[in-house]
Formats: sequence, structure tokens, C-alpha cells
Amino acid sequence: MKALRHTAYGEHPVVEEIPEPAPGPGEVLVRVAGAALNPLDVKIGAGHVRDHFPIIFPSVVGTDLAGTVARIGPGVTGWNPGDQVIARTDPISGGAVAEYAAVPVPNLAAAPAAVPLHLAAALATAAATAWQAVVEVAELRAGQTVLVHGGAGGVGGFAVQLARQAGARVITTVSPAGAGIATKLGASQVIDYTTADFRAEAGHADVVIDPIGGDTEAASLDVLRPGGLLVSLNTPPDLGRAADRGVRAEFVFHRTDAGRLAKVAAAGLEIVTDRTVPLARAAEAFRHLAGGHAKGKVIVRP
Ligand SMILES: NC(=O)c1ccc[n+]([C@@H]2O[C@H](COP(=O)([O-])OP(=O)(O)OC[C@H]3O[C@@H](n4cnc5c(N)ncnc54)[C@H](OP(=O)(O)O)[C@@H]3O)[C@@H](O)[C@H]2O)c1
Repeated sequence: MKALRHTAYGEHPVVEEIPEPAPGPGEVLVRVAGAALNPLDVKIGAGHVRDHFPIIFPSVVGTDLAGTVARIGPGVTGWNPGDQVIARTDPISGGAVAEYAAVPVPNLAAAPAAVPLHLAAALATAAATAWQAVVEVAELRAGQTVLVHGGAGGVGGFAVQLARQAGARVITTVSPAGAGIATKLGASQVIDYTTADFRAEAGHADVVIDPIGGDTEAASLDVLRPGGLLVSLNTPPDLGRAADRGVRAEFVFHRTDAGRLAKVAAAGLEIVTDRTVPLARAAEAFRHLAGGHAKGKVIVRP
């Protein structure tokens, strides 16, 4: 089969012919209909997160996939060949950007029927992380105001939708090319971060969801109401500075959870794609995602 593989830290991944994986005990073999790329894949390949996710080369890229169960491994119950699934593999194992992937059962959920199967891969990390931030950590409620940074990106786009589903008013920061997407997903105020200081335009928010980090994260503390919450996804927040300002801050580290995957699959989320490419062009798509300005999800279709 063909797969996109990291060959060494810092090298661009390449599409290669490799043996099809065999499902081990407790695993199913999935014929991949679509794989979604994430910034984590880029950080893993660059070696930036090797303390958490030390990969063994060569290593098939990617955690997020959707497809059809082709075979089940020893001891698997509850899943059968022909089942349509979404999955998030362990980031150290990777394996998603390939024609077939072996996936442990705790990393699987049934795919949503209302979404084309290859696109459902988009939900596995980005939507589940947004769910963790918006629903589980922030517990966003009707009547609250949330500022979501990067509302046309992978995590941000799903966070905007989940915040709207909760009944919150959504403000978001985007570059001009993302404004239409963020508005369509439910943002009621869109701030162009390339020309405006969001602190001057956003007013006060109960919650900030921040997948950007750095200066954006530091400035986000200034828009929170007393007692408000910053949910950081990229860089750990300055807890001392948050306390000085009378606000809370929390870092969310996404972990795969089959129950949460099932919830995002059932949430009726719209999947915005930046691009969908065949596996032969996966390396090019990976480089595009690494540029940091994707609008929606980058999908590889084996
Ligand atoms: N903590 C966790 O467990 C966890 C889980 C998932 C993701 N993450 C992290 O969250 C980050 C975002 O992930 P993603 O999947 O959403 O990435 P993505 O799909 O590449 O989207 C990032 C978006 O941010 C926008 N952007 C860039 N700079 C910005 C700024 N200063 N202000 C506002 N928007 C800006 C980009 O496009 P434009 O600037 O062109 O609008 C792009 O739309 C990554 O660093 C990722 O590693 C963390």
C-alpha cells in the first residue's frame, strides 16, 4: 500500500510503498477513506514534541482518519468488517495517512452518517479538542460571550460552532480570507487580526479559546471579565499574570477518548475543508498545513 512517511526529524515526509499493517490483538484494520492533517503532525515530524511523542523512523504520518473496517484483530468484539468509523491513532504510532491503518478499538467511534466518509476524518483531533475546550473545560452556556482565536482554522472553526450550539455569542479573530467562513459557522463579530488589536474591538468576554498562543495568548487576558477563563491550546498560559488580573487560565492537552469521538460525530458539525488531495499529493498538502494559514481542514484521500 501507499503511505506518507516521516523519514527523519526535520525532513519533509514522502509517499512510499510499504506493507499493509496487520491488526494486532484489540485492533481493527481500517481501509482509509480520508485522513485529516493537523499541526501536531508537523510538530512531531520536526521533532518539536519528541519528549512527549518520540517516533521511530520511518513513521507513517497522521492520527486522524475515517474509513471502513476491513478486518478485525484477535479479541475484538463490537466492530465488524464493513462498519464505517472515525479514529484517532496514538500520535507516537501515527499511521493515518495511508491506504490502510491498524487502530486500537478504544480509539474508534462510528462515523456520522450525514457527512461524506472521507471528510469525517476532520473531526478526530480538531473537533474533539474544540469539544474538550468549549464543552468540558469552559462549560460554555447560553448568554455568555466567547472570543475564539483563529475561527476559520481547524480547531477554531469547530470551537465557533460548538460555542454557538451552547447559545453563546461568538467573537473571533481571523485574517481577511477567513472572515466569510467564520461568519458562516456562527461568529457574530469577526476581527481582522492582521490590522486590528482585538483588545480594542472585542469588549469583554467570559471565555477565550486560544489555539494561537504567544502574544495572542498574553493579550487575551486583557479581554476577560473578572473571573473569566482563558483556555489555552498552544502554549501554557501565565497563571501568575492571570491571577493578578483576577481571571483564570487553563491549558488543555487533548487526549483521545472514544466517548468524546462519538459525541463530536453526533454533534452535527459542519466540516470546512481547505483542500482535499489524493495520497500522491499528500507531501505537498503537509507543507501547506505547516505554513499555518489553513482555512478549515486539509484532507488526504487515499
Ligand atoms: N493542546 C492541544 O491538545 C491541541 C490540540 C489540537 C491543536 N492544538 C494546537 O492548536 C493550534 C491550531 O491548530 P489547528 O488545527 O486549528 O490549526 P490550523 O487548522 O492550521 O488553523 C490555524 C488557524 O489560525 C489562523 N491564525 C494564524 N495566526 C493567527 C493569529 N495571530 N490570530 C488568529 N488566527 C491566526 C490561521 O490562518 P490565518 O491567519 O490565515 O487566518 C489558521 O486558520 C496548533 O498549534 C495546534 O498544535 C493543540
